[in-house]
Amino acid sequence: MAPETPGRETQETLSNLLHETRRFAPPAGLAASANVSADAYEEASGDRLGFWERAADRLSWGRRWDTTLEWTPPFAKWFLGGTLNVAYNCVDRHVEAGRGDKVAYHWEGEPDGDTRTLTYSDLLREVSKAANALTELGVGKGDRVAIYMPMIPELPIAMLACARIGAIHSVVFGGFSASALSGRIQDADAKLVITADGGYRRGAPSALKPTVDEAVAECPGIEHVLVVRRTGQDVQVTDKDVWWHELVDRQSDAHEAPQHDAEDPLYILYTSGTTGKPKGILHTTGGYLTQTSWTHHAVFDLKPESDVYWCTADIGWVTGHSYIVYGPLTNGATSVIYEGTPDTPHKGRFWEVVQKYGVTILYTAPTAIRTFMKWGDDIPAKFDLSSLRVLGSVGEPINPEAYVWYREHIGGERCPVVDTWWQTETGAIMISPLPGVTAAKPGAAMRPLPGIVADVVDDQGASVPDGGGGFLVVREPWPSMLRGIWGDEKRYVDTYWSRFDGMYFPGDGAKRDEDGDLWLLGRVDDVMLVSGHNISTTEVESALVSHPKVAEAAVVGATDPITGQAIVAFVILRGSAEESADIAKELRDHVAKALGPITKPRQILVVPELPKTRSGKIMRRLLRDVAENRSIGDVTTLADSSVMNLISEKLPSAP
Ligand code: WT7
Repeated sequence: MAPETPGRETQETLSNLLHETRRFAPPAGLAASANVSADAYEEASGDRLGFWERAADRLSWGRRWDTTLEWTPPFAKWFLGGTLNVAYNCVDRHVEAGRGDKVAYHWEGEPDGDTRTLTYSDLLREVSKAANALTELGVGKGDRVAIYMPMIPELPIAMLACARIGAIHSVVFGGFSASALSGRIQDADAKLVITADGGYRRGAPSALKPTVDEAVAECPGIEHVLVVRRTGQDVQVTDKDVWWHELVDRQSDAHEAPQHDAEDPLYILYTSGTTGKPKGILHTTGGYLTQTSWTHHAVFDLKPESDVYWCTADIGWVTGHSYIVYGPLTNGATSVIYEGTPDTPHKGRFWEVVQKYGVTILYTAPTAIRTFMKWGDDIPAKFDLSSLRVLGSVGEPINPEAYVWYREHIGGERCPVVDTWWQTETGAIMISPLPGVTAAKPGAAMRPLPGIVADVVDDQGASVPDGGGGFLVVREPWPSMLRGIWGDEKRYVDTYWSRFDGMYFPGDGAKRDEDGDLWLLGRVDDVMLVSGHNISTTEVESALVSHPKVAEAAVVGATDPITGQAIVAFVILRGSAEESADIAKELRDHVAKALGPITKPRQILVVPELPKTRSGKIMRRLLRDVAENRSIGDVTTLADSSVMNLISEKLPSAP
């Protein structure tokens, strides 16, 4: 990490990039009937705990809490003394209120025509049966259950069944390797794995079970492996295996949801650390559900009667946990779940899904948006996207050009775009525009949500003035905050609470502009130091993407004998752009013009793909290996490990 505060020169460069004059006011109709108005900021700033109490009152509690917040820094307990059942809140209460026939999930499998519809009543039956099955397998309250599944309905069903009985789920993304899976099973000391024979990916069945077998061989604590038959491919059956259709299908569909304490653990989700082994982020029950539910209601303006909501993330990431499963279901939403990839069987698949289900709210990631830009404007133009009314972005800074493209080509210039900043650790959205309130700026996450107290500080922890840059911090505890790192209290304190006294440090750089609005600049370890100037990779990437020929860019700092670090840029050109001999010069000049000569990349490499993790984050570490002529390091967390070969082939032999 390079915890330098951006110097004066950088401030100037930042102001250049952030001299963004475009503003998009909320559409009048949306503003007039929005779930949340500007009053929410007032309400929360006057009485923050009261604000969260009212948010918690949107849920059904068995017993109301006695203490809203007990704060012994850095350990928070919310809604102490309260009891509730997460699955009851997500499912039963909608059925009891007569909304059982409402669709909870439109599930769209990857193979064409492979679809399922689950109403809230269907979900109640399935979750109850699964809860009974887990009990039969000897799983009880507080036990850990690893879930390693494709994007099929049994995945949220399994999560809700765990939540119902008080077992702690640990969902491991289905693209991870056997060693990643066994490491996570061992760290959490899980006793059950729930999986499937396989899933569909890019038009073909892709096996999961052999990976589980390999992982479980290293995990003596695993008593059973519960297997959903999804693809029907051959699997080797071991003595720990139980078929879902044999065990779950014969269970009673009645299950009384017990009450759990507000601070009982709900789940563990592993997130990679900058060094060492992944961190098991622990979330608990009452506060987590309160904030995921309220933010989903507020940030997406969800109207459960009329909206069709689609979050394109994988449920294996926190975005899927909070905004495919817990937030939307608590709010009684109708959601789409899509199993496959955006380009199977064709590059218009997402827009076909939007058209088919009449999706009104779409939540996706900048990496996907830039990919769609690269594929060309004509693809979404072939579909009827007029149902859309709110668009969301999450996962990394969204470049202004990608934001504007999303607004125009997907949102038909009528839909507000909400750029939502948060993390696995925060559990729910923290900084975001409100679609009926905020006149949003392309590329800015704008303001902390009501009830959230965030700030930008310098390296001494002092608040920077408007127009300044530094580190993002959160000054007050929030309901869905992580309660710790599983099994490692010290690492929790060291990682998040030691950099600045009494403040939560998420590890992101940020800038507060002259209007007081926040711009997230990516991880502070993505800051380059060129001739003594701190330059964020994000600002150079945004400058490159603002060139009409560039679809995507990744920038790294490579060691340089003269300047300390030098800027090396990897760019993907747009579908329509021709690769010309002088493209590198053209782009270097473009960056220099946009940001100032100090940010002019030393080298620009046109590449066909960028190395990304399965959650879509660019792995700059690998690009630094390329830029510094090293052999390429560990590629096991890449979504597609062949990408590095493609990039290496494009390199000039001597840079
Ligand atoms: C990191 C957290 C939030 C769920 C998905 C990722 C970056 C996330 C934004 C945004 C700028 C963003 C941050 C953060 N990030 N959203 N809207 N603007 N940066 O969860 O894997 O825990 O990653 O993603 O750097 O710290 P995650």
